[in-house]
Amino acid sequence: MQSKRRTLLAAACLAACFASPASFAAKPLVIGFSQVGAESEWRTANTVSIKDAAKKDGITLKFADAQQKQENQVKAIRSFIAQRVDLIAFSPVVESGWDTVLREAKAAKIPVVLTDRAVNVSDPSLYVTFIGSDFVEEGRRAGRWLVERTAKLPNPVINIVELQGTVGSAPALDRKKGFEEVIAGNPKLKVIRSQTGDFTRAKGKEVMEAFLKAEGKKINVLYAHNDDMAIGAIQAIEEAGLKPGKDILVISIDGVKGAFEAMLAGKLNVTVECSPLLGPQLMQLARDIVAGKPVPRRITTVEGVFPAEVAAKEFPNRKY
Ligand code: AHR
Repeated sequence: MQSKRRTLLAAACLAACFASPASFAAKPLVIGFSQVGAESEWRTANTVSIKDAAKKDGITLKFADAQQKQENQVKAIRSFIAQRVDLIAFSPVVESGWDTVLREAKAAKIPVVLTDRAVNVSDPSLYVTFIGSDFVEEGRRAGRWLVERTAKLPNPVINIVELQGTVGSAPALDRKKGFEEVIAGNPKLKVIRSQTGDFTRAKGKEVMEAFLKAEGKKINVLYAHNDDMAIGAIQAIEEAGLKPGKDILVISIDGVKGAFEAMLAGKLNVTVECSPLLGPQLMQLARDIVAGKPVPRRITTVEGVFPAEVAAKEFPNRKY
């Protein structure tokens, strides 16, 4: 109880010491947002959510697309500091390498909010809060679905190929970790190939082609860290004369409309949800932080799992 009170107090102090003079003036809030890029259907939906929420709330959004390059994000953050924005938010391409630029933001008294992806920094006070998904849990959910789905199969070994996300990114590291954690105790589930597909359709297809060339019909399962790579890989599987969803079980993460369409076509077996709709919460957080209100240190999005069996029922409700 005491430690909970202490955590709340610390969060309040963090928010208060970052409170900018804008909280006392009538001018519109200015947020600098550095986005990863436009690599996936998920990312496009995330950008739309953030831009729409800012517009709706009358917040000035300075938006920079990093084209999946950390150096572009560092440049964007420095430019936001120079422009004296009220708050900086960003979705970091990779986990490490942020200490210097975040120290610069702190020295300039500009609060930083992490959206979607986490960072690895030596000083946790370099950002105020994180808003996004629990990627390790997403990996576990994918693993649990597979364990259940394959429990009754007669195969002595089930060969899995894995398409990882961007090297060094939080979702790639965590989704791998969560999945491995769950399948570790199962002697028949074996990952035979694992390589990055950089979260894109084109790369997902290319790497799956290489997997198929090397392993052919030995492959029983594809685990893709996002829907776009799975969709690219599905194409590769079909071009190799195999049936995705049947000859090779396909598991992916995000829950975008493209994945639901693939499930409706019988080509994808399950998608684990990862919500990109972070815009409204981000705007609320920004207002609270700039006003000096206490905010939680981490806000985790609530998400589900959608197997192909529920795709037809769920599809009309999907918002991205
Ligand atoms: O960080 C979230 C991940 O990044 C999504 O799963 C993926 O589609 C995106 O590119």
